[in-house]
Amino acid sequence: MDLLEAAKRVRENAHAPYSGFKVGAAIRAASGRIYAGCNVENASYPEGSCAEAGAIAAMVAAGETRIAEAAVIADSPRPVSPCGGCRQRLAEFAGAEVRVIMATLDGRSRTATMAELLPHAFGQDHMEQG
Ligand code: THU
Repeated sequence: MDLLEAAKRVRENAHAPYSGFKVGAAIRAASGRIYAGCNVENASYPEGSCAEAGAIAAMVAAGETRIAEAAVIADSPRPVSPCGGCRQRLAEFAGAEVRVIMATLDGRSRTATMAELLPHAFGQDHMEQG
């Protein structure tokens, strides 16, 4: 299935009664398999989670740790952009060259690489002892 179509489909399951803003995310992992996630909000607002976090959790639970491509979609006026926290979450499993497709429900989209979304990313290599 098309990555964006997977994100669009899972978005319908989003639990977003507080913001009213449903988000869907899909990841194509190194194996070619697609993992999807949606935002899951909570009455205790900070306990909610983003769509990207759900897709990443599904991928890792299935035993994969490399992202080849990602897509995120929402009913927004311009292509929805992963939040700062999700950029860091994606960067844990995606190289600088990985492309992230950002889309609106009405068919607009743009693509950026992880390097563009999160320049100078903090990673495991920074924790190596000098
Ligand atoms: N949201 C995501 O799921 N992903 C993002 O990258 C941006 C924000 C969700 C979180 C919250 O449930 C709603 O959108 C409004 O912020």
